[in-house]
Amino acid sequence: MPQVAAILIVEDDEASRLGLIEFIKSLGYAAFEADSVNAALGILNSSNNIDIIITDLKLPDGTGLDLLKNIKEDKIQGREREVVVATGFSSVKSAVEAIKLGAYDYITKPINLDELDLIIKRIISNKRLIDEINILKTRLDERFNFGNLITSSKKMIDIVSTAVAVADKNSTVLIEGESGTGKELLANIIVNNSQRKNKPFIKVNCAALSESILESELFGHERGAYTGADSLYKGRFEISDGGTIFLDEIGEIPLRTQSKILRVLQEKEFERVGGNKTIKVNIRIIAASQDIEKKVKKGEFRQDLYYRLNVVNLKLIPLRERKEDIPFLIKKFLEDFSKETGKNIKGLNKNALDVLLNYDFPGNVRELKNTIEFMTATSGSEILDESMLPNYLKESYPGYKFSGRSEKSLNNAASESYMKIPSNLTLEEAENLIIQKTLERNAYNKVKTANDLNIGLKTIYRKLNNVS
Ligand SMILES: Nc1ncnc2c1ncn2[C@@H]1O[C@H](COP(=O)(O)OP(=O)(O)OP(=O)(O)O)[C@@H](O)[C@H]1O
Ligand SMILES: [Mg+2]
Repeated sequence: MPQVAAILIVEDDEASRLGLIEFIKSLGYAAFEADSVNAALGILNSSNNIDIIITDLKLPDGTGLDLLKNIKEDKIQGREREVVVATGFSSVKSAVEAIKLGAYDYITKPINLDELDLIIKRIISNKRLIDEINILKTRLDERFNFGNLITSSKKMIDIVSTAVAVADKNSTVLIEGESGTGKELLANIIVNNSQRKNKPFIKVNCAALSESILESELFGHERGAYTGADSLYKGRFEISDGGTIFLDEIGEIPLRTQSKILRVLQEKEFERVGGNKTIKVNIRIIAASQDIEKKVKKGEFRQDLYYRLNVVNLKLIPLRERKEDIPFLIKKFLEDFSKETGKNIKGLNKNALDVLLNYDFPGNVRELKNTIEFMTATSGSEILDESMLPNYLKESYPGYKFSGRSEKSLNNAASESYMKIPSNLTLEEAENLIIQKTLERNAYNKVKTANDLNIGLKTIYRKLNNVS
């Protein structure tokens, strides 16, 4: 969104229109006016600057909903524009229809200027966040996008650049990093940038294989090598011949198997279990570990093997040491999960982002990814807010409390069957509290709130002046 937001007022009643234009200008925004659907479309088609459209419902040549549909369907010139529909108190149905058609919000007539001001501010701050992330993401795409790996951290860019630079050499690579920092992702990038790209790429999770089957999994076995070995079995080293093998969690390999791996590294040869024929392979080895140096120090990992693996060392940085990546990663995961779930989630509000930026992410990028997946799956709105964060994350934020919403808001409140009302409230304060809580439970949907409380929308609006 440009520095000054531009707002189009669509209203056929001249006096109301001029009043609104005056007000919009007094708030410092650029104001445009139209008195019909066609006039509005004309302005939108010729001006690429308009960010927000506030339209009356009844217009001489159609309705505000027709205009809304047009804007949302055409996405005139590809811009995402927000529409607010002004409805009469009697047209709850139109308000609901407008929201369904993609209106940002509706406002009841006669228009309360404070409310209009608030709606505009909300649209602008949401759009600004989305735009900022979009701009940064575009810059990122240009410079720092290595396949699916997203980063803006200087240190990470260096590491990934080194990985790409050595991808095409056959040198052994050791990738180190805490859980969830992207070790496997980096291994994939190396392979995809190498000439072995279309050759076998075999992944072995050494931690997942029990000691008893590890050797035959890695080296294969001959028929009759042991009871139950009734046919020849080719191991992972053998089937990766010509390509790459990824030895994940290599630190978990028992000492006695480590010497055999050392031989594969040095000589590129081995024998199947129970066999004496030497098998030669042409393989590239990529290994990964979370804490291999510690194991070397404790004597649990052979030092000579460690040196052999450590030809190219790539140490991934924990997410807490590159928090600048968090917004970019969120953006990527939101896009991915929106696509997957068919939801149109546009972004995260600032409070939610603050909580995430403050958190240390012991599970690193994987934990952030899971969090965004959780929020995408459980939310119904376009902008995810702090109330949708998992509880442990909310609790991680000192004095979690935003804009009057307590920790138990939206999704939590939905499961609450009662609310606590402090005993020292006046009737009016209690009433306001009930309205506030019901609004929270309904994700600030005023129509639903009015229905739940069995009062008119008008009353909600009147009370909203007292409730933040
Ligand atoms: N920089 C990044 N950009 C985008 N996605 C990432 C990034 N880093 C990690 N991920 C994603 O996070 C998840 C965890 O990454 P990955 O499996 O590569 O981590 P790992 O270091 O191998 O973790 P573990 O030690 O637990 O096996 C994956 O879904 C991966 O795609
Ligand atoms: Mg891994």
